[in-house]
Amino acid sequence: MRGVFVTGTDTGIGKTVVAAGIAWLLKKKGIDVAAMKPFATGGKFFSKKFKSEDTAILAAATRAVESDEELNPVFFRVPASPLMAAQILKKSPPDVHGALFPLKKLGIKHQFVVVEGIGGLMVPLTEREFVADFVRLADLPVVVVTHPRLGTLNHTLLTVRVCRDFGLDIRGIIVNLMPKKPSAVERNAPHVMQRLAGVPVLAVLPEMKKPDYKEIGRLLEKTSIAEKILA
Ligand SMILES: Nc1ncnc2c1ncn2[C@@H]1O[C@H](COP(=O)(O)OP(=O)(O)OP(=O)(O)O)[C@@H](O)[C@H]1O
Ligand SMILES: [Mg+2]
Repeated sequence: MRGVFVTGTDTGIGKTVVAAGIAWLLKKKGIDVAAMKPFATGGKFFSKKFKSEDTAILAAATRAVESDEELNPVFFRVPASPLMAAQILKKSPPDVHGALFPLKKLGIKHQFVVVEGIGGLMVPLTEREFVADFVRLADLPVVVVTHPRLGTLNHTLLTVRVCRDFGLDIRGIIVNLMPKKPSAVERNAPHVMQRLAGVPVLAVLPEMKKPDYKEIGRLLEKTSIAEKILA
């Protein structure tokens, strides 16, 4: 299976717009791409068709024909980690191996699969398994979405360390939400994290008024990200 796992240093960091942007860009290059969100949670259902808004965005970016269940096999209606959401709902935590099947199915049907994580790599899925375990089982390279604000070196270096701990193949970092007028900290953050993490910063994306995956995809087109994740 060929694909990429898009994780982030935190929730709300831009994983969905970046994952959808990558998928849109690869599709533009003529690759048959699918995008999925194996685990999602949320306070309410997004629409009749999609329980999670993230799945809806990923499906739109790839013009998917698959059902919500195929693209998002696990959804809990509590905005929390899958483990906590399941416990609050008095349900069983997700079957981590079971969630691999729909991913593998997409991987057989399509040339490339872009997979969005949930929160960060140490989000618990069960008492014993984290998102990083799922990535290892899926055997996909990782792209980390992060921010340039104060605190980012800690968040980014922790995430890169966890990638290494779990033996994940980290392809690069995307710094999202760079302000129009960055402070010295924000401006220098991508250079410093690249140096200290020993991982390339593949793109720096600006803070946008109305972010959308096509605009992100067009910005990513100017970088080497497609080559890096297709390599
Ligand atoms: N570069 C950007 N400029 C402005 N807003 C952005 C940018 N990137 C993301 N956003 C906005 O920030 C919010 C969070 O982004 P997104 O949903 O992609 O994050 P996420 O990491 O996928 O979050 P979650 O953990 O909920 O899946 C969204 O409203 C999105 O539109
Ligand atoms: Mg998301």
